[in-house]
Amino acid sequence: MQNSGQPYQAAHEVGRVYDAITDKKVLADFFLTTVLQFVPAQRGYLFLATQNKTLLPEAAAPAGTEPSKELIAKVREAFDSGKPFAREGQLFLPLVVRNSALGVACFERAAGEPAFTPKEVEIGFDLASQFSGALKNNILFEENLKMERLAAVGQAMGMVIHEIKNIMQLARFSDEMTRMGINEKNPKFIEQGLAKMKKTMKEMEGLIWEMLSLTKDYQLEPEKIDIPAILEELKGDLTERAEGYKIRLDFKTDPGFPSVEGDGRSLYRALLNLVKNAFEAFSDKSDACIKIRARIKDGDFYELTVEDNASGMSEEVRARLFEAFFSTKGKRGTGLGLMVVARTVKMHQGTVTVESQPGVGTKFILHLRRFFPKTS
Ligand SMILES: Nc1ncnc2c1ncn2[C@@H]1O[C@H](COP(=O)(O)OP(=O)(O)OP(=O)(O)O)[C@@H](O)[C@H]1O
Ligand SMILES: [Mg+2]
Repeated sequence: MQNSGQPYQAAHEVGRVYDAITDKKVLADFFLTTVLQFVPAQRGYLFLATQNKTLLPEAAAPAGTEPSKELIAKVREAFDSGKPFAREGQLFLPLVVRNSALGVACFERAAGEPAFTPKEVEIGFDLASQFSGALKNNILFEENLKMERLAAVGQAMGMVIHEIKNIMQLARFSDEMTRMGINEKNPKFIEQGLAKMKKTMKEMEGLIWEMLSLTKDYQLEPEKIDIPAILEELKGDLTERAEGYKIRLDFKTDPGFPSVEGDGRSLYRALLNLVKNAFEAFSDKSDACIKIRARIKDGDFYELTVEDNASGMSEEVRARLFEAFFSTKGKRGTGLGLMVVARTVKMHQGTVTVESQPGVGTKFILHLRRFFPKTS
């Protein structure tokens, strides 16, 4: 088709804006409005094809107007032909992009108004083609998003299963130990087996809590908490493992540490994740040490820090630390640990900073308020 003249140019320029609109509904409404601006008509309708080629109404201008049965029959004809045409005060513009038919737009004039001219058909079809390109991108974008979400769900499931397997292993071990104690009438084994079972349950609860904390609607329940007691608990839970790794754990709390407001369980898990990361950052080192500190700061703030003298990290790793699923540990890591830390700090309206130097070590600083800020 020939295209020339000012209205054509102006319409073509307007059509370029379609690409910038990411919301499908807004895009559809805007398309109908722009066509009606250059090709005046009483009503306009947009029909989009489903995967099995059923044509469903997507938008109408003015909004809420219903197409007649007879018009719908002609819409089907336009869709099958793939060519624009005007007939008896009605204009049909198939939406085609790279040989795939997406739907049809059609416009109706009031009885007695002049018929659509070939030039108007041309302008309308040009706008419809530009709209089809933008719509296709929009559809592809939505499909990609769905695929990404599915992949993320898969990844998260993989991680949960991996963690559950570890916990199951601990449960099996506790079970065997307890049974052995009963069979051999050895109270020490029974005691150790039961202690391991208690630890298993704590790990399970921790995993459930972490998964919950990553959901969108999770809300903290702030209460008065005892930070030195949380550090003591962490010490009790990690000492055996640290000894196994030959890593020294150094816990220190400022004397007279006041009670603070917050969510004790989430702060415990945040610290646990930081210490676990530190454990994992050591390769053979003779003076391996992790310092865990709770400090009182000015102006009703306090700080929790976890500092190691392990591998440190590169700029690239530091820049991506808090991204979901970012891990440098291959199958051993899922890249959710620091996300849990970041979520916890955010929910306490605090901040987290990281200092790290390759070959020297890493320090995570959680800067928190003593009083939980009220959210309105
Ligand atoms: N103390 C640290 N020293 C060096 N690198 C670290 C340290 N803490 C975190 N990192 C880096 O940050 C990455 C992300 O940590 P994150 O805890 O989110 O995930 P992960 O430990 O890999 O997996 P997981 O979900 O099991 O915790 C790690 O893979 C690691 O490369
Ligand atoms: Mg981790």
